[in-house]
Amino acid sequence: RPTGVKRAKSSILKNDPSKKPCTATANMVAKFTRLILLQSNAINSLHVMLRDKRSTHVQFKKYADRLMRILAEEALAACTVEFSIVWTPTGAEFSGLRPNSNICAVSIVRAGDALLEQVLMCEPAVSVGKILIQRDESTAEKLPIVYYAKLPPRMSAFERVLLLDPMLATGGSVMKAIQLLLDAGVAERDIIFANVLSCPQGLESVFQAYSQIRVVTTAIDPELNENKYIVPGLGDYGDRYYNTT
Ligand code: PRP
Ligand code: URA
Ligand code: MG
Repeated sequence: RPTGVKRAKSSILKNDPSKKPCTATANMVAKFTRLILLQSNAINSLHVMLRDKRSTHVQFKKYADRLMRILAEEALAACTVEFSIVWTPTGAEFSGLRPNSNICAVSIVRAGDALLEQVLMCEPAVSVGKILIQRDESTAEKLPIVYYAKLPPRMSAFERVLLLDPMLATGGSVMKAIQLLLDAGVAERDIIFANVLSCPQGLESVFQAYSQIRVVTTAIDPELNENKYIVPGLGDYGDRYYNTT
């Protein structure tokens, strides 16, 4: 067996209620009511593959796509606005929130495009906007730069705007994107930010500046390193996904 691989006891494979989330995660979930942390055995094992530095580009892409499909479904579920009762072929009733396609999905290029692909596979009817924002990786302290933005006209007409970026580190990139959406007439409370990996520093900054948005994430890691990368993290999502390392 490769180093770091242990045989799991069968109990670890079940949902173990005694396995408490780490303090950083628990604190964030308790503090922010508009933060949705997705948790399941599937999400956890997909994270193992994403975080393993030995995963090849093809493996990273495969597991990232699987994880982002789950995230896309959950983020779309957060965009529902209408409760509905239907009748099944057995004549019985079933009720729940009806999927909504009056949505604009806006990706933060480049890593956000990978998540956009999964959203479009789930719901091809959504409108698409793109914002190209890049962090300066040599001096991550500097504010990220907006290079390009193309949004549909009448953004305020969409019931929900789904903002897509797999990584939330300092929060600089997503805050630029949120401001652009607000300037285009979107109401703050209609914005849902879908994200694979976040951290307390980014969540604190985003919710402090924009308390009405909602965030859907699949993990909250404890900290950032001196280069503003998430730790333990997974490295550079865009580079690993698009094979540009
Ligand atoms: C990454 C990531 C986010 C941003 C997060 O993008 O996709 O957009 O960094 O960091 P922040 O919260 O500190 O702003 P990057 O600039 O590396 O672009 P890429 O998608 O082309 O890799
Ligand atoms: N962007 C990434 O891709 N990874 C990080 O850890 C931070 C920003
Ligand atoms: Mg990058």
